[in-house]
Amino acid sequence: MEPISKRILSSEHRQFRPVDEQVLGFGDINSDHLFRLDYYAEAWRNPRIEPFAPLILSPSAMCLHYGQEIFEGLKCFRRDDGALALFRPQDNFARFTRSAQRLCIPPVPEELSLVALKELILIDQEWVPRTRGASLYIRPFIIATEPHLGVRPADEYVYLIITGPVGAYYAEGFAPISIYVESHYSRAAAGGLGEVKTAANYAASIYAAEEAHRKGFNQILWLDASKHQYIEEVGSMNIFFVFDDEVVTSPLSGTILPGITRDTVLTLTREWGLRVSERVLSIDELLAAGQNGRLQEAFGAGTACVISPVGRFHFAGRDLIVNGGGIGQLTQRLYDEIIGIQYGSRPDPYNWVTLVY
Ligand SMILES: Cc1ncc(COP(=O)(O)O)c(C=O)c1O
Repeated sequence: MEPISKRILSSEHRQFRPVDEQVLGFGDINSDHLFRLDYYAEAWRNPRIEPFAPLILSPSAMCLHYGQEIFEGLKCFRRDDGALALFRPQDNFARFTRSAQRLCIPPVPEELSLVALKELILIDQEWVPRTRGASLYIRPFIIATEPHLGVRPADEYVYLIITGPVGAYYAEGFAPISIYVESHYSRAAAGGLGEVKTAANYAASIYAAEEAHRKGFNQILWLDASKHQYIEEVGSMNIFFVFDDEVVTSPLSGTILPGITRDTVLTLTREWGLRVSERVLSIDELLAAGQNGRLQEAFGAGTACVISPVGRFHFAGRDLIVNGGGIGQLTQRLYDEIIGIQYGSRPDPYNWVTLVY
């Protein structure tokens, strides 16, 4: 394959305009270019970087009807010394491969994705924010583009990587959020797609999340689809609890996303000598721990927010206030450590960071 940069269709396409990084939201601004790879005649072909522009897609493209789609989400950080740093990109592309397999999408070589991403970021490097806490969000995704009505794996796909500058995921920033515990709707059942990063899981969540937003909550905590008893994960984060001397998160049983931030938290807390359990946890146990004082902290973990303190859960008409509604010690320590590794102000003993240059 030719180097990707030789295939840029329009390197003159620059529309960079400075954005106010203090008030950057999440997901509204796109950088100038995208990476594109096409699949047809049984091979991925023609890698290239193009101006960001609308797609031409047949109205009968299979992704529009049957949801054959996968995606990823990761970030690039500008460091004080000017270097641009990706956080655990190999893990995102490995998960992308697993998602592809589950959705019958031909996998893309992970090394190609990383090379392509680095080239794309270099071309759009002005778009990587300079403010601590802001970053360049990266969205690789694959859609089934074959024009066909009928459910089966497509034989044409488009793989795109788009990027854009983002600030804090929650309008609150690094401040405690309120979570509605969902006891009626379900996100994913055993044997389904819960552990896969695919649009279907998010489609399944929209209605319930909207109801929770209307009631004034930031997010939903999902319970297991069968009994609505065991804690699974939050809309776009894995969830952690600190009980006395134990850090607890739900196990990877197939219905939750195996978050890369989750793994980062598990690795760090184990290294710090804490007792860490990946185990089932019922909503009853959580409520009891809230009542008898065992529950010290709760926080979400995900690429978009990094670490998000939880100040309140609401379940069956009752509020459970965590840590007086404030930010817990471990929550703060994890946030500082992960942000520090990402921005290069703390050591990176696990080689989680890959420099773009
Ligand atoms: C449903 C869900 N769970 C958990 C996560 C956290 O995963 P990661 O830490 O890899 O971003 C995300 C975000 O991608 C998500 O959408």
